[in-house]
Amino acid sequence: MTVVDSCVQGCGANLFNLAPASGKVEILKADIGEPDCIAPALAGVPIIFNLAGEISHIHSMLYPERDLEINTLSQMRFLEACIRLSPGARVVYAGTRQVYGAPQYLPVDELHPVNPVDFNGVHKYAATMYHLMFSRSGDLDAVVLRLTNVYGPRMALDVPCQGFLSNYIRKSLAAARLQVFGDGSQLRDPAYVDDVVEAMLAAGAAQRLQSREYNVGGPEALSLSQIAAICTDAGGMEPPEYREFPPDRKQIDIGSYYTDSSRIGRELGWTPKVRFEEGIRMTLNYYRECLPHYLPPGLTEPECKLRHILTQKGSYRLSPT
Ligand SMILES: NC(=O)c1ccc[n+]([C@@H]2O[C@H](COP(=O)([O-])OP(=O)(O)OC[C@H]3O[C@@H](n4cnc5c(N)ncnc54)[C@H](O)[C@@H]3O)[C@@H](O)[C@H]2O)c1
Repeated sequence: MTVVDSCVQGCGANLFNLAPASGKVEILKADIGEPDCIAPALAGVPIIFNLAGEISHIHSMLYPERDLEINTLSQMRFLEACIRLSPGARVVYAGTRQVYGAPQYLPVDELHPVNPVDFNGVHKYAATMYHLMFSRSGDLDAVVLRLTNVYGPRMALDVPCQGFLSNYIRKSLAAARLQVFGDGSQLRDPAYVDDVVEAMLAAGAAQRLQSREYNVGGPEALSLSQIAAICTDAGGMEPPEYREFPPDRKQIDIGSYYTDSSRIGRELGWTPKVRFEEGIRMTLNYYRECLPHYLPPGLTEPECKLRHILTQKGSYRLSPT
């Protein structure tokens, strides 16, 4: 098995995450949008887990062309290479609930209209459609999982703008007070990373797919206030502070969201198991043991210390200074 990652600056790559698999996987540092570089890893492969992408909605609004390149152009080139080198391969794509935009009803099922509110959602939707298009033509056998907010060990805590859960985990580790935007009544259904891995494996292993799109959510819908309270208890902080949404967040806010995961339950036998309280406890325990691999000393508030250094292709790196 080969892991391909180009370690894009501003995304979450961390070689330490692969240490437990040392000796069992090959690691290829390459861009999936460069077929010549990835050809050795791709030829004749029956199952491909396609998680390459940029997750930050804020980053996508700051640098839309960068997001377009990572989440759309690279994906198109990658899928064309898959067709050439591993025709008919099962491709399990990590899509996002962000494609739905602000929900028109809850819980959100796969029939919900698509109406993304930011570049990330638009670009991820285009990539979703590439997967479906190449499956319709019989060139690939792809399946798209639309993931809700995922959390757990091994997130890139040193990268800012990775979503509120990353922020809450970082602050909980530093026992720093959380901020809740709005009145705290917004709903989310965080999914623990192990559950999401199980969903991806189920989608990879299914003999014959009944559907090509599955929503993947967490086991419970919680308000932001409840999520903040659980983190606050686990981190031993004072109660959260409630604030107005900052304008850049408000612009791309989707209101309440939680997932109807019943299709994947019915067809692939997957259900989320890890409740948030348990998941956050396991997450904080993990980071307490390995924190220096994720958060260099002095970088507890990357948002404050963030400097975007534009490099070629509009990408940037995070500077701890
Ligand atoms: N984390 C979430 O809450 C969440 C929610 C919905 C969807 N997703 C999707 O799941 C996938 C994985 O997310 P994650 O949280 O693990 O993010 P992550 O940033 O930790 O991992 C993504 C990896 O993709 C790599 N990458 C990006 N473009 C690449 C390219 N062209 N070639 C090779 N490698 C490339 C990055 O270097 C990074 O290591 C993403 O596609 C994301 O859109 C994540």
